[in-house]
Amino acid sequence: MESSSGPSVITNYPTIEPRGLRDRYIGTISEKDLGASVTVCGWVSKVREHGEHLVFIDVRDFSGIVQVVAHSSVELRAEYVVRVKGKVTRRPEGTENSSLDTGQVELTDSEIELLAQADPPPFSLTDRVEVDESTRLRFRYLDLRREKMQSNLRARARINSAIRASMERQGFTELETPLLWTPTPEGAREFVVPSRLNHGSSYVLPQSPQIAKQLLMVSGFDRYYQIARCLRDEDLRADRQFEFTQLDLEASFVSQDDVMEFISDAVMGASRAVGLEHVDPIGRITWRDAIDLYGVDKPDMRFGHTLIDVTDIFADTQVRALSAPCVKALVAPNPSELTRSKLDGLVDRAKALGAKGLLWLRVESKDGELTLDSPVAKFISDAESRELIAKVGAKAGSVILMVADEWQSACQVLGQLRLELGRKLADPNQFTYVWVVDFPLFEGMSEDGSLISAHHPFTMPNQDDFDKLESDPLSVRSQSYDLVLNGWELGSGSIRIHRSDIQARIFSLLGISTEEAKNRFGFLLEAFRFGAPPHGGFAFGIDRLTALLVGEDNIREVIAFPKTQSGSDLMTGAPKPLEKSSWDLLGLSVKPVSKNQI
Ligand code: AMO
Repeated sequence: MESSSGPSVITNYPTIEPRGLRDRYIGTISEKDLGASVTVCGWVSKVREHGEHLVFIDVRDFSGIVQVVAHSSVELRAEYVVRVKGKVTRRPEGTENSSLDTGQVELTDSEIELLAQADPPPFSLTDRVEVDESTRLRFRYLDLRREKMQSNLRARARINSAIRASMERQGFTELETPLLWTPTPEGAREFVVPSRLNHGSSYVLPQSPQIAKQLLMVSGFDRYYQIARCLRDEDLRADRQFEFTQLDLEASFVSQDDVMEFISDAVMGASRAVGLEHVDPIGRITWRDAIDLYGVDKPDMRFGHTLIDVTDIFADTQVRALSAPCVKALVAPNPSELTRSKLDGLVDRAKALGAKGLLWLRVESKDGELTLDSPVAKFISDAESRELIAKVGAKAGSVILMVADEWQSACQVLGQLRLELGRKLADPNQFTYVWVVDFPLFEGMSEDGSLISAHHPFTMPNQDDFDKLESDPLSVRSQSYDLVLNGWELGSGSIRIHRSDIQARIFSLLGISTEEAKNRFGFLLEAFRFGAPPHGGFAFGIDRLTALLVGEDNIREVIAFPKTQSGSDLMTGAPKPLEKSSWDLLGLSVKPVSKNQI
C-alpha cells in the first residue's frame, strides 16, 4: 500500500511570497536565515515536554517541518493548527536532524498562537506508519495531509501543467465538452442521469469526449485538447476508477505519425516534470509482434525473456500435448527458484489462464551434453531436444516452459507467466514507453455473428485492407495505436473514419442497423455530410501516467477522492439511497432493496 520505489518527486517549494498570517513557508527556512525572525503557520506534528514549561514542537506545513522551542503555557497536541513567530537559531551541536531539510536550525524565543484545536487523528499521519486503506479513505482529508499523498498530488498537478504547456506549444486549443451527453458505442457501460424535465428520458455521462471532439474537427477547430473527466460504470481494478482523467486530443489533416509525435511531446514533458531527465525515445512494435513476443498488447519491455516460436520443431512430434497449431516456449526467469512444487503450481496457473496444459523441461548437463529432464522428456526425440535447446538458447539449469494451442491463446498464457515470473527483473526506476501499432480492426465475433470493434467503431481501417472488410474482416488492420508504459496501457487513439459511407459500412459489420445508427448517433453521420476533414486523435489516462511516474501501483494513490474497489466513497457514504420525493421528481420508482444487497 505504501509507495513502491520510483523516481523521487521534487517537492516544489513555492517561489512566491507567502501572504496573510505568515511570512515564510517552513521548508524554505535554512541556515541562511540564522538570526532572522520568521512567522510560519501549520499543524503540530509532535510535542515533547522538557519541564519548566519548555516544549519542543515540530510544526509542519506542506513544504516541510521545523522544530520550535518555546516556553509555552498553551497546551498543544498533535494536529492543532498554530501560528509561530520565532528566531532562526542554529541547533545545539549534536542535536541536528539530518533527515529534515530544516534540521540544522530551530525556531527559538517563539510565540505560539493557537488557531484551531484538533481531535486526536484516527491514525498516524507520518508516512512511516502503514494504515489500513479503508481508514485512510474514510478520513481521506487527513490521509492527504501525509507527505506521500501531498507529494503524489503535487506531482499530478505538475504533470497536468506540463501536458498543458506541451499542448499549447503545439497549437492545440483547449475546449470543454458536455458532461450530460448521449450514449455512444465506445464499449464501456455508461452512467445514466435521468431527466427531471423529460420523464422517461435520460442523459448519460460521457465515457470519453470521443464524438464531441470529432464534431469539433467538423467545426474546423483543427487541433483540440482537453484534460477531460470521463466516466465509466465498469468493474474497478488497480488501474480503473469510475471517474478518471484523460489528456484527450484530436487534430485535422494529420497522419498517425503526427498524432504520435504530439503525444510523445506531452508524455516526455510530463516525465521531465517529475524529475525524470533520461527517458529512452519511444520505440514501436506491431500488435502482432507484441503478442508474438510478449503475449500481450501492452508489453513490459523492461526485461527480456521473450516468447519463442518452436512450432516447427514439434511438427511431427510423438508428444500429443504438443501437436497444436502453435507451440510457444519461454526460458523461465529465475529457474533456480522453480522447485518441483512451484512447477506443478505453474501448470495449474496455466490451466487457470485457459491453457490445456503447460510442459516444463529442466535443462541438465550430462557428460558435457545438454539434456532435458521432465516427466515428458522420454517422449521427446533426441533431435527435438537438441533443436529446442539450441533455438531457445537454454543452458544447464535453464527451465523451458511450453504451451501448445492456437497462436494467440498460447502466446497469452505464456506471456502472463513471463510477467508473473519475471516481474522482479523489471527495474522500477526504468520507464520504457512503447507504441503498439497495426491493431486488428475487430477483436472477434459475438454470438449473433456481428463483429466486435477492437478499439471503437470510429476507427479507420488500414487503407491496404479495405477490400477485405467483408470477405475476411478479422484480418483487417486498423489505423489505431496504443501507448504503453512498463506494461500498462496508457492510452489509445486512431485515425478516424470521416466519411459517412465508410462509417455506415462499419456499423453494418458491427451489427448496428442503419435505423439504429441513425437513432443513436445520426447527429454524427449527419455532421459528416457537411464536409468532414480527415482527422485522428488520442487519449491517455493521466491517473495511470501519474501513478507509474511516482511509483504507485494503484491509481487511487494519485486521486484525491477515489472510490473503493466496490465503488463506494467511504468518506461521504455515496452512493446513498434517495428520498422517495427525489425519485418522484425524476418520474422514477425503485424496487425495494433486497436484503442481500444491503
Ligand atoms: P480508451 O477507452 O482506450 O480510449 O481510453 C484511453 C485511456 O484512458 C484510460 N482509462 C482509464 N483510466 C482509469 N480508469 C478507467 N476506468 C479508465 N478507462 C480508460 C486508460 C486508457 O488507455 N476516446 C478514446 C481515445 C481516442 O481514440 O482518441 C478512448 O477513450 O489510460
